[in-house]
Amino acid sequence: MIYTKIKGTGSYVPKRFLTNDDLAQIVDTNDEWIRTRTGIEKRHIVTDEYTIDLAEQAALEALESSHVAKEDIDLVIVATVTPDHYFPGIAQLLQKRLGLKTVTAFDINAACSGFLYALQIADKMIKSGAFHNALIVGAETLTRLTDWSDRNTCVLFGDAAGAMVIGTSDYDSIRTVITGSDGDDNSYLICDNVDLKDPYTNEKSTQDHIHMNGREVFKFATRIMPQMVRDLLEMNKMSIDDLDYIVAHQANLRIIDKAARDLNFSMDKMYVNINEYGNTSAASVPLAIDEAIRKGHLKRGDQFVTVAFGGGFTWGGALITY
Ligand SMILES: CC(C)(COP(=O)(O)OP(=O)(O)OC[C@H]1O[C@@H](n2cnc3c(N)ncnc32)[C@H](O)[C@@H]1OP(=O)(O)O)[C@@H](O)C(=O)NCCC(=O)NCCS
Repeated sequence: MIYTKIKGTGSYVPKRFLTNDDLAQIVDTNDEWIRTRTGIEKRHIVTDEYTIDLAEQAALEALESSHVAKEDIDLVIVATVTPDHYFPGIAQLLQKRLGLKTVTAFDINAACSGFLYALQIADKMIKSGAFHNALIVGAETLTRLTDWSDRNTCVLFGDAAGAMVIGTSDYDSIRTVITGSDGDDNSYLICDNVDLKDPYTNEKSTQDHIHMNGREVFKFATRIMPQMVRDLLEMNKMSIDDLDYIVAHQANLRIIDKAARDLNFSMDKMYVNINEYGNTSAASVPLAIDEAIRKGHLKRGDQFVTVAFGGGFTWGGALITY
């Protein structure tokens, strides 16, 4: 039986940030509304960096903390909805930037659940015996897709990257990873790609922005998060009292709070950093896990669940003995 574990983590956010008051200069909003409805106080945004730049910094930190030599990484997976090109993927750019030898490298898109999808794929590929050490990254520059005149969405998102090195382990650490999807509700959170182009008229495509039905996303999120935690606990014959922490996707403090209340779990043990970064999509979970580890909240031996949800709808969760 091959086991896997987290060997190292890293994260990175751009230096520039916008406070709620800064946003109130741009759209009809205010600090009080944003804080009470979302828990967000500021969000970091890129100005001269691309997704690959964020991914590289987070990956370097994860590699350093993992003590895994670059030559021993044989798999790179990047979760992103904001790649810098249609192709090549961020994974290939990252391979070059890090000077990795020939590896299997690819990007995936499962919106804000993307990192959990990457974790599940890497975990299974290592447990199959075909790979040994994976660098998995969630990296986003979502503010490139933000409509800065739409107060319903522009207050929510920020840019960041989080990374993790996972590899073979002598104990069962990454115990269960689950993912799921329901395409029926794909229009509630959407950003269109290029339009169809008629070769005769050859109309120019315009870049679309994020569109969201906040209430529907809220309803879905508050249902799926506790459900995933319960499923993971049941699959591992554990109870909520066995968990030291829950690290949830940082989309809205009220969503996290509602999940905690539904699960009868202390809010003190729900990791929260949405106030600092807003919703950073696929970067949210690895950024939060990295911070929780670096700040000493998550320690070796702790049992935690991490859960995410996103456009699609998609969802994913993992039960890990760190
Ligand atoms: C977006 C969200 C914060 C809105 O909160 P809400 O309590 O549902 O607010 P509503 O959409 O009901 O809007 C209430 C009012 O606030 C207004 N409003 C919306 N955004 C505002 C803003 N930034 N500042 C001030 N007012 C705002 C609305 O226009 C509405 O005004 P009205 O009553 O005059 O029509 C909330 O629905 C949410 O977080 N949904 C999930 C979003 C999410 O997680 N997305 C990412 C998933 S990966």
